[in-house]
Amino acid sequence: MSPALSAAVAARAEAARRRTFAIISHPDAGKTTLTEKFLLYAGAVAEAGAVKARAGQRRARSDWMAMEQQRGISITSTVLQFTYRDHVVNLLDTPGHRDFSEDTYRVLAAADAAIMVLDVAKGVETQTLKLFEVCRARSLPVLTFLNKCDRPGRDPLELLDEIEAEIGLRPTPVTWPVGEPGDLRGVLDRRDGSFVRYERSAHGATAASEQRLDPVRAAAEEGDAWRQALEATALLDEVGATVDAGSFLAGESSPLFVGSALTNFGVRHLLDAVVDLAPPATARVDASGALRALDAPFAGFVFKIQANMDPAHRDHVAFVRVCSGRFTRGMTLVHGPSGRPFSTKYAASVFGADRDTIDVAYPGDVIGLVNASDLQIGDTLYDAEPVTFPPIATFAPELFSVARPRDTGRHKQFQRGLAQLEREGVVQVLRDPDGDRVPVLAAVGAMQFEVFSHRLMHEFGAEVQLAPTAVSVARRTDRVTMQELRQVRGTRVLVRADGTLLALFESPYQLQRLVQDHPDWCLEPVLGAGEVP
Ligand code: G4P
Repeated sequence: MSPALSAAVAARAEAARRRTFAIISHPDAGKTTLTEKFLLYAGAVAEAGAVKARAGQRRARSDWMAMEQQRGISITSTVLQFTYRDHVVNLLDTPGHRDFSEDTYRVLAAADAAIMVLDVAKGVETQTLKLFEVCRARSLPVLTFLNKCDRPGRDPLELLDEIEAEIGLRPTPVTWPVGEPGDLRGVLDRRDGSFVRYERSAHGATAASEQRLDPVRAAAEEGDAWRQALEATALLDEVGATVDAGSFLAGESSPLFVGSALTNFGVRHLLDAVVDLAPPATARVDASGALRALDAPFAGFVFKIQANMDPAHRDHVAFVRVCSGRFTRGMTLVHGPSGRPFSTKYAASVFGADRDTIDVAYPGDVIGLVNASDLQIGDTLYDAEPVTFPPIATFAPELFSVARPRDTGRHKQFQRGLAQLEREGVVQVLRDPDGDRVPVLAAVGAMQFEVFSHRLMHEFGAEVQLAPTAVSVARRTDRVTMQELRQVRGTRVLVRADGTLLALFESPYQLQRLVQDHPDWCLEPVLGAGEVP
């Protein structure tokens, strides 16, 4: 077989084994614990506890991560790869903070599925609704895990209604809790009606012991708890809340599992579902709407850029989602936007900030390209057959701030940092189209400004002064309307790095009046979560 042919055959076979997904949840719902338990069940760690320990080491490594530590949150996204049942699982971590950030959205653009973790006591929490809207907008298949069922919580039936009403995703339970709140005995597996009884291990450090009982024995041994579970699942049968592969893959229904990440109850079922239900890496659509075949030569796109992960050397890692072909370290690719060759001598797979050199990768995998300062978010890299993947949509900003260096003597450092953080997509930078007046920073979450200021100071030595602006709403506009808006007090038109002209208004009322008075002006909503192209 020629090398090209063997790469193509391998790419198809390996893509079928890949499951690439992200876990999305509200902070504290149990994402970290669940991640750790996945690694435990996959045999990637011998005992739970390793991930947190490793995260501890990671945090010690840079000032910026010291900020994470102070706030007890995770700002960076990382990628974990492990094997389970002869499948390669790529778990893309999303930032775990309260504010929605654009970073999370970009990670979801690289995922083929998501697991939504809900705390059974809290249900759908408003701050994270936006995340779920993004999944819906991208038609991403979502598995749901009702976590913390070992503790008293809300009625799961009520939560099903809430998920459907708030997110518009129809939950289809695969398992159902058996036991009183606070005394979870196990789960009813609706696929065969059996009872899976769990027993917790000490501190949940090793797998929970599982015993499968038939319904007759379950009724005899669990009494009322079993009867209640049967009643609830009979109701689910009646309303047709049963797993349906077609609507799951279309992002309309969501197979739901119950359990407790802490005690390991239900973790295996969920991980099995990642392999059995979640889709493998499939051919991706390019910018022209055509499919890039999995066995075409290598192609991938940059979905995240992170600089200065390791303060010992000023580095710059571009995370690339592989879409087609076989990647081998050292191959020279073409950087789509510039047409220039790009050497991949320094490719790495990434586990937290610890890097292992990666030699081979296939569709669904993520590679980290080190010292890739010419790459930008959304850029395509390919080998042999040119392709361009669609841009990753930028969010409609909702928060605006004017940024100035506090010390004008550090103007250069400020500009360098601004350019770098803009390239990484930490914030959007809006500039005056005719000159270089003070830029306006725009974001979808306030945390983005905090990260911006912190990094500018610690990595570039420029303290920033952020002043709030009166702007409260933005619209996409064109050059003709821009000229008209120059005559209107209280409005400004600025340009974003992607070339979009944004008209900024002080109040929705002002905007509404202008739209009424000038129906011919171009004042379009800026692309947002629900408007992915
Ligand atoms: P996150 O990444 O989504 O923010 O959540 P994380 O896993 O860190 O979990 C948040 C808290 O909830 C942790 O407690 C964790 O132990 C607990 N937790 C996670 N899953 C379960 C579960 O299934 N049942 C119960 N009862 N608790 C769960 P903590 O006290 O904040 O931290 P720790 O000291 O336990 O690490």
